[in-house]
Amino acid sequence: MMKRRRVSWLAILVLILGAVFLAYQQAGQETRPVVINQTAVPPLPTLKPEKVSQGEILYAQYCAKCHGANLEGAANWKQSLPDGSLMPPPHDSSGHTWHHADELLIGIIENGGDPVYNSKMPLFKDQLSRDETAAILEFIKSKWGIEEREFQWWITVRPISQ
Ligand code: HEC
Repeated sequence: MMKRRRVSWLAILVLILGAVFLAYQQAGQETRPVVINQTAVPPLPTLKPEKVSQGEILYAQYCAKCHGANLEGAANWKQSLPDGSLMPPPHDSSGHTWHHADELLIGIIENGGDPVYNSKMPLFKDQLSRDETAAILEFIKSKWGIEEREFQWWITVRPISQ
């Protein structure tokens, strides 16, 4: 009887230690600074689920008809049209949206593409508030892999001199 009880206490202790170890490891992952080109920036922020779902609805309403319901962009989006303009690129990891800092992306969404390049990207500042634009970006970010997210975060907050 005594022996059995000691064994079960030991099992509980092992379980507790295991749980503490796992929690510690996970916490360490979440607060890890992002380091690219040897420049460290603060840890990647966690996406807010309520923002992501708000953005998903707005994306379907305003963006999906050109950029695709699954953010896949136009087929052959890398080829330019006869008038020199570009087709809607994907917003998932296969595109290049994640190459750009938040500020630039918000600027493109609010003010439209560059007329110098005959851009067909419309402006949305009359239809979307800054909060709604940020929610769409949050949704788009939720579709990226960890590497794309870390790179885009780095490019958004890296020191100016870089
Ligand atoms: C009428 C079609 C159309 C709609 C609707 C549209 N876009 Fe675009 N978008 C484009 C085209 C075309 C481009 C490429 C133009 C260029 O780069 O000159 C583009 C480019 C972009 C870019 C730049 C991407 C990059 O990698 O450089 C972003 C960001 C973007 N769109 C976001 C959005 C968002 C967010 C919405 C919805 C609020 C939206 N677009 C709705 C056509 C559209």
